[in-house]
Amino acid sequence: MRDKLVIIQKEVLESIDKANDSSSLEDIRVKYLGKKGQLTQILRGMGKLSPEERPVVGQLANKVRQTIESALAEKVKEMEERALAIRLKEETIDVTLPGKKPSLGKLHPLTIVLNQITEIFLGMGFDVAEGPEVELDYYNFEALNIPKNHPARDTQDTFYINENILLRTHTSPTQIRTMEIQKPPIKIIVPGRVYRSDAVDATHSPIFHQIEGLVVDKNITMGDLKGVLDIFAKKMFGPKTRTRFRPHYFPFTEPSAEMDVSCVTCEGKGCRICSDTGWIEILGAGMVHPKVLEYGNIDPNEYTGFAFGMGLDRIVNQIYGIDDIRLLYENDIRFLRQF
Ligand code: PHE
Repeated sequence: MRDKLVIIQKEVLESIDKANDSSSLEDIRVKYLGKKGQLTQILRGMGKLSPEERPVVGQLANKVRQTIESALAEKVKEMEERALAIRLKEETIDVTLPGKKPSLGKLHPLTIVLNQITEIFLGMGFDVAEGPEVELDYYNFEALNIPKNHPARDTQDTFYINENILLRTHTSPTQIRTMEIQKPPIKIIVPGRVYRSDAVDATHSPIFHQIEGLVVDKNITMGDLKGVLDIFAKKMFGPKTRTRFRPHYFPFTEPSAEMDVSCVTCEGKGCRICSDTGWIEILGAGMVHPKVLEYGNIDPNEYTGFAFGMGLDRIVNQIYGIDDIRLLYENDIRFLRQF
């Protein structure tokens, strides 16, 4: 029996050595250590041995069993390690290869500058309001003190949809819409798209952007208008910026003015951008006309207000030194990537 055990051990170790996958190892385990396995049979037959022989053979049998088990475990480990090594080799990546960079979108220059302007007015306590781009004639003209056949209608080449509906030519209609739903104090800016039937060239586009401002409260004066807009100009274009107000005419403000800022490019010395004047016109403004307050259901004897409307596109062009408004609308990625 002892010889048999030694032979078995030798046999098993040989076949474990030859095995090269986990199923053949399992076959070996069943063949020798399984319920009907050869070693198991021997251990079962131990009862027939003499009392002297039994412990000796028993010890040997146990040793053989342990040797087989640890040889099996060893082999399993070895196979797992080899499999892992193969897998690691197959999955190797070259970390020195250049990566693929996802291309990120950018904000449009109009959006960048609008955000800056909005930020400045929010800082002065203004709220942001909006109004429709498809507007009623009533809000765009009538309630702004521009009746039908008023000559001021000529200065705004309007896209009419029908007799009463049009594409707004300015953001001023939102003055009336706001007054209708909000009682003073009112302090808003209204950014938005506006439309005029202009032929396209370097300085004209049928779509452009304005930012309206409206302040209505008790005791609002022209001094408030000048103060707010001067602070805005200095925050927007730099602390050295100067402003000047020139008398102007708008049907919905009285008195009215246009505001110029000292040219950002030449600081007022005169250059190509400001046509050698040293000044750039950026907005129209004035004290809200009493009739306009009345259209907004606000009593002009109790309240006064000021309003302004600035052209966003022109400000963007000033800031970035862009000399053709069309660039803002052509969606040329080579242009837009620069901001
Ligand atoms: N709506 C005027 C324009 O488009 C600008 C403006 C707004 C003037 C508010 C005065 C007050 O030219």
